[in-house]
Amino acid sequence: MRIEENYFIQALHTFRMPVYARWFVEYDQVDDLVSLLHSDLLKHHPFLPMGGGSNLLFVHEHYNGVLLHSAIRTVDLLSETDSEVLVKVGAGVVWDDFVARCVAQGWGGAENLSYIPGEVGASAVQNIGAYGVEVKDIIAEVETLEIATGQPRVFQNAECEYGYRSSIFKHALKGKYIVTAVTYRLQKHPLLHLDYGNLRNSLSGDHITIADVRRAVIDIRRSKLPEPDEYGSAGSFFMNPVIPVEQYEQLKVRFPDMPHYVVDEAHVKVPAGWLIDRCGWKGKEEGGAAVYEKQCLVLINKHNARPDDVVRLAEKIKRSVQETYGITINPEVNYIG
Ligand code: EPU
Repeated sequence: MRIEENYFIQALHTFRMPVYARWFVEYDQVDDLVSLLHSDLLKHHPFLPMGGGSNLLFVHEHYNGVLLHSAIRTVDLLSETDSEVLVKVGAGVVWDDFVARCVAQGWGGAENLSYIPGEVGASAVQNIGAYGVEVKDIIAEVETLEIATGQPRVFQNAECEYGYRSSIFKHALKGKYIVTAVTYRLQKHPLLHLDYGNLRNSLSGDHITIADVRRAVIDIRRSKLPEPDEYGSAGSFFMNPVIPVEQYEQLKVRFPDMPHYVVDEAHVKVPAGWLIDRCGWKGKEEGGAAVYEKQCLVLINKHNARPDDVVRLAEKIKRSVQETYGITINPEVNYIG
Protein backbone atom coordinates (compact mmCIF):
# COMPACT_ATOMS: atom_id res chain seq x y z
CA MET A 1 0.00 0.00 0.00
CA ARG A 2 1.25 3.48 -0.85
CA ILE A 3 0.28 6.69 0.97
CA GLU A 4 1.33 10.13 -0.30
CA GLU A 5 0.59 13.50 1.30
CA ASN A 6 0.05 16.80 -0.53
CA TYR A 7 0.39 14.93 -3.77
CA PHE A 8 0.52 16.65 -7.16
CA ILE A 9 -2.00 14.78 -9.32
CA GLN A 10 -1.68 16.53 -12.66
CA ALA A 11 -0.65 13.24 -14.29
CA LEU A 12 -3.38 11.22 -12.54
CA HIS A 13 -6.41 12.84 -14.17
CA THR A 14 -6.90 13.23 -17.89
CA PHE A 15 -7.74 16.97 -17.80
CA ARG A 16 -4.09 17.35 -16.68
CA MET A 17 -4.75 20.44 -14.58
CA PRO A 18 -2.42 21.44 -11.73
CA VAL A 19 -4.25 19.98 -8.73
CA TYR A 20 -2.96 18.77 -5.35
CA ALA A 21 -4.63 16.07 -3.25
CA ARG A 22 -4.27 16.20 0.54
CA TRP A 23 -3.69 12.41 0.43
CA PHE A 24 -3.28 9.86 -2.33
CA VAL A 25 -3.54 6.20 -1.35
CA GLU A 26 -3.01 3.22 -3.62
CA TYR A 27 -3.83 -0.36 -2.59
CA ASP A 28 -3.23 -3.58 -4.50
CA GLN A 29 -5.24 -6.07 -2.43
CA VAL A 30 -8.83 -6.19 -1.25
CA ASP A 31 -7.62 -6.78 2.33
CA ASP A 32 -5.68 -3.51 2.26
CA LEU A 33 -8.85 -1.70 1.24
CA VAL A 34 -10.74 -3.35 4.12
CA SER A 35 -8.09 -2.06 6.58
CA LEU A 36 -8.24 1.39 5.01
CA LEU A 37 -12.03 1.51 5.37
CA HIS A 38 -11.58 0.91 9.13
CA SER A 39 -8.73 3.45 9.43
CA ASP A 40 -8.89 6.91 10.99
CA LEU A 41 -7.79 8.41 7.69
CA LEU A 42 -10.98 7.33 5.93
CA LYS A 43 -13.25 7.60 8.97
CA HIS A 44 -12.36 11.28 9.46
CA HIS A 45 -11.81 12.67 5.98
CA PRO A 46 -13.76 12.84 2.76
CA PHE A 47 -12.47 10.42 0.17
CA LEU A 48 -12.95 9.59 -3.46
CA PRO A 49 -12.35 6.22 -5.12
CA MET A 50 -10.80 7.05 -8.49
CA GLY A 51 -9.78 5.04 -11.55
CA GLY A 52 -7.87 6.53 -14.45
CA GLY A 53 -9.19 10.02 -13.62
CA SER A 54 -10.80 10.21 -17.06
CA ASN A 55 -14.21 11.38 -15.96
CA LEU A 56 -13.34 13.78 -13.17
CA LEU A 57 -13.26 17.56 -12.95
CA PHE A 58 -11.48 18.79 -9.82
CA VAL A 59 -13.17 22.16 -9.32
CA HIS A 60 -10.46 23.53 -7.00
CA GLU A 61 -6.69 23.41 -7.18
CA HIS A 62 -6.59 21.57 -3.84
CA TYR A 63 -8.68 18.47 -3.12
CA ASN A 64 -8.88 18.39 0.67
CA GLY A 65 -9.48 14.67 1.05
CA VAL A 66 -8.15 11.22 0.25
CA LEU A 67 -7.93 9.94 -3.31
CA LEU A 68 -8.17 6.15 -3.26
CA HIS A 69 -6.75 4.33 -6.23
CA SER A 70 -7.03 0.61 -6.89
CA ALA A 71 -3.92 -1.15 -8.16
CA ILE A 72 -5.73 -4.52 -8.10
CA ARG A 73 -4.72 -5.75 -11.54
CA THR A 74 -5.52 -9.47 -11.56
CA VAL A 75 -7.20 -11.09 -14.58
CA ASP A 76 -8.67 -14.57 -13.95
CA LEU A 77 -10.45 -16.86 -16.39
CA LEU A 78 -13.29 -18.21 -14.23
CA SER A 79 -14.97 -20.54 -16.72
CA GLU A 80 -14.98 -21.44 -20.37
CA THR A 81 -17.46 -23.28 -22.61
CA ASP A 82 -17.60 -23.77 -26.39
CA SER A 83 -19.40 -20.47 -26.73
CA GLU A 84 -18.33 -18.12 -23.93
CA VAL A 85 -15.87 -17.21 -21.20
CA LEU A 86 -16.30 -15.54 -17.83
CA VAL A 87 -13.32 -13.38 -16.88
CA LYS A 88 -12.86 -11.66 -13.52
CA VAL A 89 -10.81 -8.47 -13.79
CA GLY A 90 -9.37 -6.31 -10.99
CA ALA A 91 -10.72 -2.75 -10.72
CA GLY A 92 -7.28 -1.24 -11.41
CA VAL A 93 -6.74 -2.87 -14.82
CA VAL A 94 -6.58 -0.26 -17.60
CA TRP A 95 -9.81 -0.74 -19.55
CA ASP A 96 -8.27 -0.69 -23.01
CA ASP A 97 -5.54 -3.17 -22.01
CA PHE A 98 -8.36 -5.55 -21.12
CA VAL A 99 -10.15 -4.90 -24.44
CA ALA A 100 -6.90 -5.53 -26.33
CA ARG A 101 -6.44 -8.81 -24.44
CA CYS A 102 -10.01 -9.95 -25.23
CA VAL A 103 -9.53 -9.19 -28.93
CA ALA A 104 -6.17 -11.01 -29.00
CA GLN A 105 -7.84 -14.10 -27.44
CA GLY A 106 -10.76 -13.96 -29.89
CA TRP A 107 -13.28 -13.11 -27.15
CA GLY A 108 -15.93 -10.78 -28.53
CA GLY A 109 -18.16 -8.20 -26.88
CA ALA A 110 -15.78 -5.44 -25.79
CA GLU A 111 -14.29 -4.43 -29.17
CA ASN A 112 -16.72 -1.52 -29.82
CA LEU A 113 -15.53 -0.07 -26.50
CA SER A 114 -11.90 0.07 -27.64
CA TYR A 115 -9.69 3.01 -26.70
CA ILE A 116 -12.03 4.40 -24.03
CA PRO A 117 -9.77 5.85 -21.32
CA GLY A 118 -10.10 4.77 -17.70
CA GLU A 119 -10.01 1.59 -15.65
CA VAL A 120 -12.18 -1.48 -15.11
CA GLY A 121 -13.73 -0.36 -11.79
CA ALA A 122 -15.06 2.85 -13.28
CA SER A 123 -16.39 1.04 -16.37
CA ALA A 124 -18.97 -0.68 -14.14
CA VAL A 125 -19.94 2.51 -12.29
CA GLN A 126 -20.19 4.74 -15.35
CA ASN A 127 -21.63 2.14 -17.77
CA ILE A 128 -19.22 3.33 -20.45
CA GLY A 129 -20.55 3.12 -23.97
CA ALA A 130 -19.67 3.73 -27.60
CA TYR A 131 -20.71 2.66 -31.12
CA GLY A 132 -23.93 0.96 -30.11
CA VAL A 133 -22.55 -1.06 -27.17
CA GLU A 134 -22.57 -0.37 -23.44
CA VAL A 135 -20.40 -2.23 -20.96
CA LYS A 136 -23.56 -3.46 -19.18
CA ASP A 137 -24.06 -5.74 -22.21
CA ILE A 138 -21.04 -7.82 -21.13
CA ILE A 139 -21.01 -7.41 -17.34
CA ALA A 140 -22.01 -10.56 -15.42
CA GLU A 141 -21.40 -9.28 -11.89
CA VAL A 142 -19.62 -6.57 -9.93
CA GLU A 143 -17.65 -7.26 -6.74
CA THR A 144 -17.58 -4.49 -4.18
CA LEU A 145 -16.83 -3.63 -0.57
CA GLU A 146 -19.38 -1.78 1.48
CA ILE A 147 -17.74 1.43 2.69
CA ALA A 148 -19.53 1.56 6.08
CA THR A 149 -18.62 -2.01 7.10
CA GLY A 150 -15.81 -3.24 4.82
CA GLN A 151 -18.00 -6.27 4.01
CA PRO A 152 -17.91 -7.74 0.47
CA ARG A 153 -21.04 -7.66 -1.66
CA VAL A 154 -21.52 -9.00 -5.17
CA PHE A 155 -24.04 -7.25 -7.44
CA GLN A 156 -25.51 -9.27 -10.30
CA ASN A 157 -25.92 -7.29 -13.54
CA ALA A 158 -29.68 -6.84 -12.99
CA GLU A 159 -29.06 -5.38 -9.52
CA CYS A 160 -26.80 -2.64 -10.94
CA GLU A 161 -29.80 -0.78 -12.48
CA TYR A 162 -27.87 0.14 -15.58
CA GLY A 163 -29.02 2.99 -17.83
CA TYR A 164 -27.34 5.46 -20.20
CA ARG A 165 -24.04 6.35 -18.45
CA SER A 166 -25.64 5.44 -15.15
CA SER A 167 -25.83 2.70 -12.52
CA ILE A 168 -27.00 2.18 -8.96
CA PHE A 169 -23.45 3.14 -7.87
CA LYS A 170 -23.97 6.67 -9.25
CA HIS A 171 -27.48 7.10 -7.81
CA ALA A 172 -29.24 5.15 -5.02
CA LEU A 173 -25.98 3.68 -3.68
CA LYS A 174 -23.66 6.60 -4.48
CA GLY A 175 -20.76 6.70 -2.03
CA LYS A 176 -21.78 3.41 -0.39
CA TYR A 177 -19.67 0.77 -2.22
CA ILE A 178 -16.24 0.54 -3.84
CA VAL A 179 -15.81 -1.74 -6.84
CA THR A 180 -12.93 -4.22 -6.42
CA ALA A 181 -13.45 -6.46 -9.49
CA VAL A 182 -15.78 -6.93 -12.44
CA THR A 183 -16.68 -10.24 -14.11
CA TYR A 184 -17.33 -9.97 -17.84
CA ARG A 185 -19.05 -12.51 -20.11
CA LEU A 186 -17.45 -12.64 -23.56
CA GLN A 187 -18.40 -14.61 -26.66
CA LYS A 188 -16.26 -16.96 -28.73
CA HIS A 189 -18.58 -16.59 -31.77
CA PRO A 190 -19.54 -12.96 -31.35
CA LEU A 191 -22.26 -11.05 -33.13
CA LEU A 192 -20.71 -7.86 -34.46
CA HIS A 193 -22.42 -4.51 -33.77
CA LEU A 194 -21.66 -2.35 -36.80
CA ASP A 195 -24.80 -0.27 -37.19
CA TYR A 196 -23.79 2.83 -35.27
CA GLY A 197 -22.91 5.93 -37.30
CA ASN A 198 -20.02 5.48 -39.68
CA LEU A 199 -18.61 2.25 -38.18
CA ARG A 200 -19.76 -0.05 -41.00
CA ASN A 201 -18.54 2.39 -43.67
CA SER A 202 -15.05 2.26 -42.27
CA LEU A 203 -14.94 -1.55 -42.57
CA SER A 204 -14.68 -3.46 -45.84
CA GLY A 205 -14.71 -7.12 -46.92
CA ASP A 206 -16.95 -10.06 -46.02
CA HIS A 207 -14.99 -11.54 -43.15
CA ILE A 208 -14.92 -8.77 -40.59
CA THR A 209 -13.29 -9.82 -37.32
CA ILE A 210 -13.34 -8.29 -33.86
CA ALA A 211 -9.76 -7.16 -34.50
CA ASP A 212 -11.01 -5.22 -37.57
CA VAL A 213 -13.75 -3.62 -35.46
CA ARG A 214 -11.22 -2.63 -32.80
CA ARG A 215 -8.97 -1.01 -35.42
CA ALA A 216 -11.91 0.88 -36.99
CA VAL A 217 -13.18 2.14 -33.61
CA ILE A 218 -9.69 3.32 -32.66
CA ASP A 219 -9.35 5.16 -35.99
CA ILE A 220 -12.71 6.92 -35.56
CA ARG A 221 -11.98 7.88 -31.96
CA ARG A 222 -8.54 9.20 -32.90
CA SER A 223 -10.07 11.38 -35.62
CA LYS A 224 -12.71 12.90 -33.31
CA LEU A 225 -11.26 12.96 -29.81
CA PRO A 226 -8.01 14.55 -28.64
CA GLU A 227 -5.06 12.24 -27.99
CA PRO A 228 -3.96 12.48 -24.36
CA ASP A 229 -0.61 14.00 -25.38
CA GLU A 230 -2.36 16.61 -27.54
CA TYR A 231 -4.72 18.18 -24.98
CA GLY A 232 -6.03 17.21 -21.56
CA SER A 233 -9.78 16.44 -21.58
CA ALA A 234 -12.34 14.12 -20.03
CA GLY A 235 -13.86 12.82 -23.28
CA SER A 236 -17.51 13.79 -23.67
CA PHE A 237 -18.08 16.53 -21.11
CA PHE A 238 -21.90 16.49 -21.31
CA MET A 239 -24.40 13.65 -21.67
CA ASN A 240 -26.69 13.59 -24.67
CA PRO A 241 -30.03 14.92 -23.37
CA VAL A 242 -33.17 12.78 -23.56
CA ILE A 243 -36.25 14.89 -24.39
CA PRO A 244 -39.98 14.21 -24.94
CA VAL A 245 -40.97 13.46 -28.54
CA GLU A 246 -43.37 16.47 -28.54
CA GLN A 247 -40.52 18.84 -27.67
CA TYR A 248 -38.39 17.31 -30.43
CA GLU A 249 -41.22 17.73 -32.99
CA GLN A 250 -41.53 21.43 -32.10
CA LEU A 251 -37.76 21.96 -32.31
CA LYS A 252 -37.61 20.15 -35.66
CA VAL A 253 -39.76 22.88 -37.20
CA ARG A 254 -37.11 25.47 -36.31
CA PHE A 255 -34.09 23.16 -36.71
CA PRO A 256 -34.95 20.64 -39.46
CA ASP A 257 -31.48 19.07 -39.51
CA MET A 258 -31.31 18.34 -35.77
CA PRO A 259 -30.13 14.68 -35.43
CA HIS A 260 -31.93 12.39 -32.99
CA TYR A 261 -31.98 8.77 -31.81
CA VAL A 262 -35.21 7.11 -30.67
CA VAL A 263 -35.04 6.04 -27.00
CA ASP A 264 -38.62 4.77 -26.56
CA GLU A 265 -42.11 5.71 -27.77
CA ALA A 266 -42.15 8.93 -25.80
CA HIS A 267 -38.48 10.07 -25.83
CA VAL A 268 -35.63 10.87 -28.19
CA LYS A 269 -31.96 11.54 -27.49
CA VAL A 270 -30.36 14.56 -29.13
CA PRO A 271 -26.58 14.88 -29.56
CA ALA A 272 -25.31 17.56 -27.19
CA GLY A 273 -22.29 18.02 -29.50
CA TRP A 274 -24.61 19.15 -32.28
CA LEU A 275 -26.55 21.54 -29.99
CA ILE A 276 -23.31 23.08 -28.73
CA ASP A 277 -21.83 23.30 -32.23
CA ARG A 278 -24.94 25.08 -33.60
CA CYS A 279 -24.79 27.61 -30.77
CA GLY A 280 -21.43 28.64 -32.22
CA TRP A 281 -19.14 27.22 -29.54
CA LYS A 282 -16.66 25.33 -31.75
CA GLY A 283 -13.12 26.38 -30.80
CA LYS A 284 -14.32 29.03 -28.29
CA GLU A 285 -12.01 29.63 -25.31
CA GLU A 286 -12.44 30.62 -21.67
CA GLY A 287 -9.12 31.24 -19.95
CA GLY A 288 -7.02 28.20 -20.80
CA ALA A 289 -10.05 25.96 -21.52
CA ALA A 290 -11.63 25.51 -24.94
CA VAL A 291 -14.28 23.66 -26.93
CA TYR A 292 -12.50 21.04 -29.07
CA GLU A 293 -12.63 21.94 -32.78
CA LYS A 294 -13.32 18.39 -34.01
CA GLN A 295 -16.02 17.49 -31.44
CA CYS A 296 -17.89 20.17 -29.49
CA LEU A 297 -18.89 17.68 -26.79
CA VAL A 298 -15.30 17.67 -25.59
CA LEU A 299 -13.87 20.50 -23.48
CA ILE A 300 -10.08 20.63 -23.53
CA ASN A 301 -7.25 22.02 -21.45
CA LYS A 302 -5.83 24.11 -24.27
CA HIS A 303 -3.28 26.38 -22.58
CA ASN A 304 -2.56 25.59 -18.94
CA ALA A 305 -6.23 25.72 -17.95
CA ARG A 306 -7.23 26.12 -14.32
CA PRO A 307 -10.23 24.22 -12.91
CA ASP A 308 -12.22 27.45 -12.77
CA ASP A 309 -11.78 28.06 -16.53
CA VAL A 310 -13.43 24.72 -17.34
CA VAL A 311 -16.24 25.32 -14.81
CA ARG A 312 -16.99 28.77 -16.32
CA LEU A 313 -16.87 27.49 -19.90
CA ALA A 314 -19.25 24.60 -19.06
CA GLU A 315 -21.70 26.99 -17.33
CA LYS A 316 -21.75 29.35 -20.30
CA ILE A 317 -22.34 26.49 -22.76
CA LYS A 318 -25.12 25.03 -20.63
CA ARG A 319 -26.86 28.45 -20.40
CA SER A 320 -26.56 29.06 -24.13
CA VAL A 321 -28.02 25.63 -25.04
CA GLN A 322 -30.86 26.23 -22.55
CA GLU A 323 -31.64 29.66 -24.04
CA THR A 324 -31.46 28.51 -27.67
CA TYR A 325 -33.32 25.19 -27.50
CA GLY A 326 -34.98 25.07 -24.07
CA ILE A 327 -32.95 21.87 -23.42
CA THR A 328 -30.97 21.30 -20.23
CA ILE A 329 -27.67 19.52 -20.78
CA ASN A 330 -25.91 17.92 -17.81
CA PRO A 331 -22.28 16.95 -17.39
CA GLU A 332 -21.21 13.36 -17.84
CA VAL A 333 -18.03 14.36 -16.03
CA ASN A 334 -18.16 14.12 -12.22
CA TYR A 335 -17.43 17.43 -10.45
CA ILE A 336 -15.17 16.91 -7.43
CA GLY A 337 -15.29 19.68 -4.80
N1 EPU B 1 -22.04 16.64 -33.93
C1 EPU B 1 -21.92 17.90 -34.45
N2 EPU B 1 -20.92 18.71 -33.97
C2 EPU B 1 -20.05 18.30 -33.03
C3 EPU B 1 -20.17 17.01 -32.51
C4 EPU B 1 -21.18 16.18 -32.95
O1 EPU B 1 -22.68 18.30 -35.31
O2 EPU B 1 -19.18 19.09 -32.67
C5 EPU B 1 -23.08 15.73 -34.44
C6 EPU B 1 -22.48 14.62 -35.31
O3 EPU B 1 -22.36 15.01 -36.64
C7 EPU B 1 -23.48 13.51 -35.13
C8 EPU B 1 -23.98 13.70 -33.73
O4 EPU B 1 -23.69 15.05 -33.37
O5 EPU B 1 -24.58 13.68 -36.01
C9 EPU B 1 -23.40 12.70 -32.73
O6 EPU B 1 -21.98 12.79 -32.70
P1 EPU B 1 -21.06 11.48 -32.49
O7 EPU B 1 -21.56 10.34 -33.29
O8 EPU B 1 -19.65 11.95 -32.66
O9 EPU B 1 -21.28 10.98 -31.02
P2 EPU B 1 -21.72 11.71 -29.68
O10 EPU B 1 -23.20 11.53 -29.48
O11 EPU B 1 -21.20 13.07 -29.71
C10 EPU B 1 -21.44 9.61 -28.10
C11 EPU B 1 -20.74 9.33 -26.78
C12 EPU B 1 -19.24 9.13 -27.01
C13 EPU B 1 -19.07 7.94 -27.96
C14 EPU B 1 -19.80 8.28 -29.27
C15 EPU B 1 -19.77 7.13 -30.24
C16 EPU B 1 -22.02 10.48 -25.07
C17 EPU B 1 -22.06 11.63 -24.15
N3 EPU B 1 -20.94 10.44 -25.87
O12 EPU B 1 -20.92 10.85 -28.57
O13 EPU B 1 -18.65 8.78 -25.76
O14 EPU B 1 -17.68 7.71 -28.22
O15 EPU B 1 -21.20 8.56 -28.99
O16 EPU B 1 -20.58 6.10 -29.76
O17 EPU B 1 -22.91 9.63 -25.07
C18 EPU B 1 -17.46 9.60 -23.84
O18 EPU B 1 -18.39 9.20 -23.16
O19 EPU B 1 -16.45 10.18 -23.32
C19 EPU B 1 -17.52 9.46 -25.30
C20 EPU B 1 -16.57 9.93 -26.09
